[in-house]
Formats: sequence, C-alpha cells, structure tokens
Amino acid sequence: MLHKISVIGAGNVGATLVQRLAEAELSKYVTVVDILEGIPQGKALDIAESAPVYGYDTRVIGSNTYDVIQDSDIVVVTAGIARKPGMSRDDLLATNTKIVTDVCNNIKKFAPNAMVILVSNPLDAMCHVALQVTGFPSERVFGMAGVLDSARYKSFIAEALDVSVEDIQGFVLGGHGDTMVPLPRYTTIAGIPLADLLDEASINKIVDRARNGGAEIVGYLKTGSAFYAPSASVLEMIESIVKDKKKILPCAVYLKGEYGIEGLYVGVPVKLGKKGIEQVIEIKLTDAEKAQLRHSADAVQELVTSLKTLVPA
Ligand code: NAI
Ligand code: 2OP
Repeated sequence: MLHKISVIGAGNVGATLVQRLAEAELSKYVTVVDILEGIPQGKALDIAESAPVYGYDTRVIGSNTYDVIQDSDIVVVTAGIARKPGMSRDDLLATNTKIVTDVCNNIKKFAPNAMVILVSNPLDAMCHVALQVTGFPSERVFGMAGVLDSARYKSFIAEALDVSVEDIQGFVLGGHGDTMVPLPRYTTIAGIPLADLLDEASINKIVDRARNGGAEIVGYLKTGSAFYAPSASVLEMIESIVKDKKKILPCAVYLKGEYGIEGLYVGVPVKLGKKGIEQVIEIKLTDAEKAQLRHSADAVQELVTSLKTLVPA
C-alpha cells in the first residue's frame, strides 16, 4: 500500500476517482485539492463517512491548499474545464494550460518525487505542459486516455457480440482526439480474431463510435463530459503501478523515437509498474495503420506547437 495518492480537481472525474481510490485501499491517504471553497472538503468528508458502511480504512482529506499533497507518491491532475456540446477537447487548450501550469508548479513544490498522471484535456498537450513545468523524468509524467478509449471500444464489441467484456482484448493508439486509432487487427475475443466474428461494416461502425465516444456522452449530459469510465480507467492505471502488476496499457507517453515519433506525447501500449512507464511496447503496424498513427501524432504536434505561445520556455 502506498502512503498517499492525491487528486487535483474535485469535479466529476476527480471526486469519482477519489471515491474509487478510497474504496480500493491502494494508499493510506487520499487527498483532493480544488480552488472551489468547501467543495473538496465536503466531498472528502462525504466519502470518508461512507467508509464504515463500505468497510475501508483509507483516510480522505479535501483542501483548497496544496500542503495536503506533501510527499504524495502519485498525483492525478483532473483540474480544468470540461467540454460542453459543440466544443472539441482542443477548445480547452488556453484555459487548461493556465490551470495545469499552476497545478504542476505546486506538484513540483510539494510532491517532487511523485508520479504525475494527467487527465485534463486536451490530454496529450497537457502532458507536455506537465513535463515542462515539473521537469520530472518522462517515465513519471504520463496521461490517461487510451485505457478509456479502449474501454469504450471493447464495451461496444461486447455489446455487438453479446459476450463478456472480460473476453475482449484490444486497444486504441494515438492522441486523445477524433484521430485516435482503434486497432481491429489486434483485437481478439477469447483469443479469436475480431474479423472472424464480426463483419467489416459492423467493425467500422464500432471504430467510428469509439472515436466519437467522448462526444456521444457530452451530447447526452450537455453540462459536462464523461466521468465514470474515465475515473475507472485512471484507477486501473494506478492499481497496475501500486501493485507493480506491469499491465500493458495504452497510455499517453513521451516518445523518444519509438514508432518513428520523437519528442511528442502520443498514446501507445506501455508496461506500467512501480517505476511508472517501464517499457514502451512497439507493435508491428501495416502501412495504413502507420499512416493513421502519423496523422494522429500530427494533430497532437499542431496543438503542442500552439502551446509555445501559452507556456514560457
Ligand atoms: P469538472 O468541471 O467537473 O471538474 C473540474 C474541476 O477542476 C472543478 O471542480 C474546478 O473547480 C477545478 N479546477 C479548476 N481550476 C483549478 C485549479 N487551478 N486548481 C484546482 N482545481 C481547479 O470537470 P471533469 O468532468 O472532472 O473533467 C476534468 C478534466 O478532465 C476536463 O478537462 C476534461 O475534459 C478532462 N477529461 C479527460 C478525460 C481523458 O480521457 N483524458 C476523460 C474525462 C475528462
Ligand atoms: C472523454 O473522452 C471528455 O476526453 C473526455 O470523455
């Protein structure tokens, strides 16, 4: 069990994640920080008061100041604005860059040895901000998106085939945007290739739905974006780190030449263990898949280039 996991942002994703972390008992302390007065304190107290019913001993503390994150082992950044109908994740760039910069300055000050998991959007660009502001090694700064995008993809396949979600193996590459690259060729159902069980048109429909999975939820909620599946996805990553499970999960990581991409955060499969990103797994791609990944990386690069006017070097 770790000493402390902290969550910045007590909104939909942050608060739901705090609840999941408390219930999972992965650390002695879970702390949550938000700028809204009373919100982190009230939500933390509410979660702490459910402990006797649920039966966990995690101590949950909410605050408007960063002293509570002192010496955290892991800090998850969910602070920022979420999208509303008609907005893309990229529309959040300027506002969330300022917020994530402030948050990361505090992480650097209070939790200099922490692993930092970014959630705030636009995800891949926010990872760049965090890397630059904290100055931490990139093995300790990475983002959650691929686990969520893959979960959506897998849930649609399970629904289409009416089989257990546990039987579906598959993942999504690329940036967390409409250009993400679901990989049907690497998708199996209890070891059986997806193409043996589902026709091409149905697979294409699922791929398309996964690419637009975030917007589908925003379309329903209207006042914000998804948070149950996102918080579950962060929990899976944290569990792999805390228990040193070394799961292979798609995460937004800083590539140093892998997949022919240099100096850019892009979603690829990695081995996630107690040291953070322990290995980038390079899989073989067809020319068409390579082109899709390149296209997705180009979209991330465009945002990162526009970041230069927002974050002083
Ligand atoms: P939300 O609006 O419910 O919560 C955001 C919280 O951040 C608010 O409570 C707000 O007061 C707080 N906040 C704003 N500025 C802050 C600061 N300077 N310091 C501390 N806290 C601050 O939004 P939600 O739904 O929780 O989403 C959070 C972010 O995560 C959004 O940017 C959203 O787009 C992103 N997201 C990313 C996903 C991914 O797959 N990477 C999935 C779901 C959401
Ligand atoms: C999602 O995919 C908003 O990025 C978030 O639901």
